[in-house]
Parts: sequence; C-alpha cells; structure tokens
Amino acid sequence: MKKLALLLLGVATLAGVVVFTATASRHVTAQEAAPIFVKKIPAGYRDWKVVSVAHEAGELNDIRAVLGNDLAIKAYRESKLPFPEGAIVGRIAWSYVSSEENNKAFGRDQSFVAGSPTDFYLQFMVKDSKKYAATGGWGYSSFDKDGKPTAEAAMKTCFPCHQAIKDRDFVFTRYAP
Ligand code: HEC
Repeated sequence: MKKLALLLLGVATLAGVVVFTATASRHVTAQEAAPIFVKKIPAGYRDWKVVSVAHEAGELNDIRAVLGNDLAIKAYRESKLPFPEGAIVGRIAWSYVSSEENNKAFGRDQSFVAGSPTDFYLQFMVKDSKKYAATGGWGYSSFDKDGKPTAEAAMKTCFPCHQAIKDRDFVFTRYAP
C-alpha cells in the first residue's frame, strides 16, 4: 500500500513538472514577442498634460495632440534626457477637417479642426529600458478608435523611424511652452 502511494506521488510529481515546464516555456515565448508591441492602452491617458500639437498633411491629413504622463511631463519641463523609467508619451490623431461653423463666424474659410479618429488614433511610447532594450528602451503601441491594436507589420516600422531622433531619446516632439 505504501509503495502504491509512493508510486502515485511520483506520477503526480512528474505530471506537475511536465505541466509546469510547458507553462513556463509558453510564458517565455510570450515575453519574447512582447518587447516591441505593447497591447494595452494606458489608463487615464485622456487626462494627461499637453506636450504639443502637430498637423500632418499628405495622405495622413490629420491633426494630433501629443501628451505625456506625469513622469514624462516632469522630464520635459526640466529638460531631462533620457526620459525616466515609467514615462509614457502618447499622441492622439484626428482627421483634419474644415469647420463650416467656425468659418461662418470668421466670415471666410480659414478654420480647421479635429474630426473623426484616424485609423492610427492612439499611439504610445512606454519607457522601460530593460523590457524594451531591443527598441531603444521604449515599447511602442498603436490602436484604432475601437481600441484594437494595429497590425504587427505596421508596428515594426515604429522604432526604425524613431531612431532618426536617437539624440532626444527617440522622441520627436519638443515641449511647446
Ligand atoms: C516614418 C517615420 C515614423 C514612423 C514609421 C512612426 N513614427 Fe511616430 N512619429 C514620427 C514623427 C516625425 C513624429 C513627430 C511628429 C508628429 O507627431 O507627427 C512622431 C511622433 C510620435 C509620437 C509622439 C512622441 C514623439 O516622438 O514625438 C508617438 C507616441 C509615436 N510617434 C509613436 C509611434 C508608433 C507607435 C509608431 C508605429 C506604429 C510610429 N510612431 C511610427 C515619425 C514616425
């Protein structure tokens, strides 16, 4: 009886090891894929402070606000580079549309405002030097208006282009006073 109990314990332990190993290796694979692409929208981003605004013409034809969480804003205001761990810089992009309402008030066609969310509505760069070491210490994310993450093929373009501004810790937007 004792032998049987020991045998059963042995089998249970072995099964446990197999399950644990399988889970652990799945976990590693998921982590390896994670560094470049962040899949979560940071909580409270809509209440963050404004860094600056920009307008892209051409095919994008949008108007965008660049925002920062408290850590990012503090670093910006103190002109401190590189950005600290946990800093997040985000940008919201809307289509760039003319405003009839405003034009009427001005008496001429001169007003352009934010329209509907673009396909690349929300984009963020999250600072974590260890986790995102392969992409300059920033994890990139991008979402449409429904919060759906952008396809991975497009995500692969983020870091290569932002590398152009390596001297300012990969962040293009300057703080607008
Ligand atoms: C072809 C170059 C290029 C690519 C590709 C690109 N960006 Fe940018 N990004 C810029 C430029 C230039 C700016 C600043 C001007 C602006 O906002 O339009 C910017 C601004 C940003 C900002 C605001 C902070 C900053 O650096 O000014 C974030 C966040 C951002 N991009 C994230 C992303 C993400 C996420 C991707 C990939 C899905 C991406 N970018 C792809 C060039 C690029």
